[in-house]
Amino acid sequence: MNTENQKKIAAEKATESVQSGMVVGLGTGSTVYYALLKLGAMVRAGLDIVGVPTSAGTEKIATAQQIPLVTLATHPSIDLTIDGADEVDAHLNLIKGGGAALVREKIIANASEKILIVVDESKISRVLGTTFPLPVEIVQFGWEATQTEVNRICGKSTLRVASTQDGRQNPLITDNGNYILDCHLDGIPAPQEIELQLNNIPGVVENGIFVNRADKIIIGTPSGIRYME
Ligand code: 5RP
Repeated sequence: MNTENQKKIAAEKATESVQSGMVVGLGTGSTVYYALLKLGAMVRAGLDIVGVPTSAGTEKIATAQQIPLVTLATHPSIDLTIDGADEVDAHLNLIKGGGAALVREKIIANASEKILIVVDESKISRVLGTTFPLPVEIVQFGWEATQTEVNRICGKSTLRVASTQDGRQNPLITDNGNYILDCHLDGIPAPQEIELQLNNIPGVVENGIFVNRADKIIIGTPSGIRYME
């Protein structure tokens, strides 16, 4: 089974936990995309849910799928969130933010009763921070000074850029109007400490380390689905 099919079976398996009446957190990314398609089909067939999207991109896809959307203002408590991850360790710690949605993803994770993470097998890692750079969202003001402080903890980081239609490279701007630094680490043996240290730097909005958040990892593998919980 190729990677795309691994993502699809994991995401579709997660939707089996969604029941009518639920407030569902809708994650971001190419794996969650398959869950959005499936949930859309379920809603059109009568499933009665509301969703809280973690990004403008997800909001657009969910709207096209006719999934009714609400906000945390009216629905501050989420029954179940389905989200992806960029890296997962054996303790269910995650690196997220490859899709630049880490701030809203962490807010929604924090409001969620239960979190299912859907990934393909390539995301599983022995030590967090060895296969994917750690995203850190920072405000634009004084970002170079913030980067210097981030580098004291992470060693080296790069400002994430996005290509314009005419091929120029500009800093990527998140849904919240911020920049992202990608930190290149040789591993994060103490993720909770690094999460707190980074968030203590003035100018840092949030970072992509998610500790003690996931209830279950649903992994699509070449031979089918396996779980970590
Ligand atoms: C977005 C995320 C995504 O969940 C993560 O990047 C995984 O995406 P994909 O399923 O496309 O690999 O954290 O901020």
